[in-house]
Amino acid sequence: MAADLSCYNIADLRERARRRLPRGIWEYAERGTEDEAGMARNRAAFERVTVRPRVLRGVHAVDPSTKIFGKRVPFPLALAPTGAAGLLWYQGDLALARAAAAAGVPFTISSASTMDLEQIAVAGGRLWFQLYYWEDRALSHAVVDKAHALGCEALFITLDMPVPPNREYIHRSGFGTPFKLNARNTLDVLTHPRWLARVMGRYAVSGGIPSQANLPDRLRAKVTKGAPPGALFKQDDLDWDAIKQLRERWPGKFVLKGLLHPEDAELALALGADGVVVSNHGGRALDSSIATIDALPDIVAAVGGKMTVFLDSGVRRGSDVVKAVALGADAVLAGRAPLYGLAAAGEAGVTRAIELLRSETARTMAMLGARTIAEVDKSLLG
Ligand SMILES: Cc1cc2nc3c(=O)[nH]c(=O)nc-3n(C[C@H](O)[C@H](O)[C@H](O)COP(=O)(O)O)c2cc1C
Repeated sequence: MAADLSCYNIADLRERARRRLPRGIWEYAERGTEDEAGMARNRAAFERVTVRPRVLRGVHAVDPSTKIFGKRVPFPLALAPTGAAGLLWYQGDLALARAAAAAGVPFTISSASTMDLEQIAVAGGRLWFQLYYWEDRALSHAVVDKAHALGCEALFITLDMPVPPNREYIHRSGFGTPFKLNARNTLDVLTHPRWLARVMGRYAVSGGIPSQANLPDRLRAKVTKGAPPGALFKQDDLDWDAIKQLRERWPGKFVLKGLLHPEDAELALALGADGVVVSNHGGRALDSSIATIDALPDIVAAVGGKMTVFLDSGVRRGSDVVKAVALGADAVLAGRAPLYGLAAAGEAGVTRAIELLRSETARTMAMLGARTIAEVDKSLLG
């Protein structure tokens, strides 16, 4: 880690990221939707959960490691899929994947990544692939087949965006797709010369502006252009039958992401899914969604122990990881936390974010008297 990176928690990385990025890019990474009540609710709900520590448990050798899909991870966390990481850092998807691989943490490649699967897979480590269906279903299946061929262990299908979310700020900033140049974003970019040189400048000399990289050449469009027919994500006509067909096609672990209702978790289990992610997309999809830590207990009651239950949305501290596990999650996904690290300092910043969350998880466990993840349970909650 760069010696000058005096970031002692995720909030420090966030502040550094905010300063480094043009406002429009920062807003894309950070903001929620509509009134952003959902984002605040996610955090407030974590803060409302309190703990009741045990003492004198001999916590000199706390082990926060656990297994996800039968394989050991250093603590119960994986990196969530986050599209367009390449706008935060040059080849940001690769930096995320490398840091995750070095830490032994699984990394989820997003359908909306700006590097293609082969380019990211060179990072090694445990790779998962997240699917948004493109309008062209055959294309979606081809990308899924490719993810399998490249060794992705799990397929995550994101279901909480049946229609595009209402992100009003994008109309003002112009930082949407297609990207629209206006007075505000021109000034914004020009007043962030370091980002312009180190991110956009490097793309300019190495092949140009990032595009939706998982599309075949005929459908790729630069972020400055609209998508050609078939190349837009389209999920409003998806139903359980479509997901069942995909389950039959995918031989690896199969996970539905973005569930909040226990009956949907039961349907996921019935169709043969290996896991669900209790997620409201970090408050980026539906502003009124229940906080995930509040939705978790009913889902655990419905399917816990029968499939892997992940939780995301609002994880900023190791104590959040511990609370989720105490309430029955097998592991959490982190979206923005590693992105803050990425924007702050590239791969080293992501490494820092993961290490902060890991060490905070271990410290919280020690404070609670929990020596192993198996000992983190409801009895430790306030
Ligand atoms: C900038 C950004 C891009 C995202 N892109 C995707 C994506 O491409 N696919 C997806 O399933 N989820 C995406 N998400 C949602 C994350 O996978 C995850 O559910 C969410 O970030 C968790 O909340 P957190 O950011 O508070 O950790 C994105 C989130 C962010 C912040």
